[in-house]
Amino acid sequence: MVFGVILAGGIGSRMGNAEKPKQFLNIGGRPILIHTLEKFYVCPKFEKVLVLCPNRWMEHTKNLVKKYIADSSKIEVLEGGATRNDTIMNSIAYIEKNYGLDDETVIVTHDSVRPFVTHRIIEENIEKATEFDACDTVIPATDTIVRSDDNAIISEIPERSKMYQGQTPQSFKAKKLKELFEALSDEEKEILTDAAKIFVLKGQKVHLVEGEVSNIKITYPYDLRVAEALIKEN
Ligand code: CTP
Repeated sequence: MVFGVILAGGIGSRMGNAEKPKQFLNIGGRPILIHTLEKFYVCPKFEKVLVLCPNRWMEHTKNLVKKYIADSSKIEVLEGGATRNDTIMNSIAYIEKNYGLDDETVIVTHDSVRPFVTHRIIEENIEKATEFDACDTVIPATDTIVRSDDNAIISEIPERSKMYQGQTPQSFKAKKLKELFEALSDEEKEILTDAAKIFVLKGQKVHLVEGEVSNIKITYPYDLRVAEALIKEN
């Protein structure tokens, strides 16, 4: 079975909007989360699409789903976790409880604030995670990447042709992800910023899926303006 997992458990502090988390802000007259959800909702390969959000936004999210999605029977609104990875683990716990977790269960995890994901990207994620256990959506780095260990002096300038920018979806065999996550030390868990790194830290292969430049993450107010422009263009 394949599940869509929409990560909406954050509070969007960098957006600086105290009223509501950024996934609930409108672009093109509809909430960002709904744009994202629609991309997943229409994919027939998903058994269910899980939406995980902060506890106090669950009622609001359920109302949005009712308002904007014609048939909401395929969508489940759940509580997110304290960190992004905890949110993912909550989705796996739900799947395990309600469907059981076999070796073939795949989750396609996606930032709720990347509404411009394409059907091609979603399909390729399902294919690669099914075949290889883990995959990550990336685009080649356009800017040169500079590493600095002390935030003052350059430590390294890696070869640009080998550098990529990570996007989402990131897709995994759910059981394997859970096992690898549980095997991490507390120290390892602390430095983890994304789920693909759980596989990488444990020496497991993560395959690349080609993303799109337009698959932006809405993080800052500037991104919101870019997103409005992209919606108008479409
Ligand atoms: N996310 C989540 N659960 C968390 C934290 C983040 O599901 N505990 C989700 C966010 O809702 C978002 C995605 O992960 O869709 C990408 O994270 P990011 O852009 O960093 O979102 P926020 O954590 O909300 O933003 P900020 O870091 O500015 O507070």
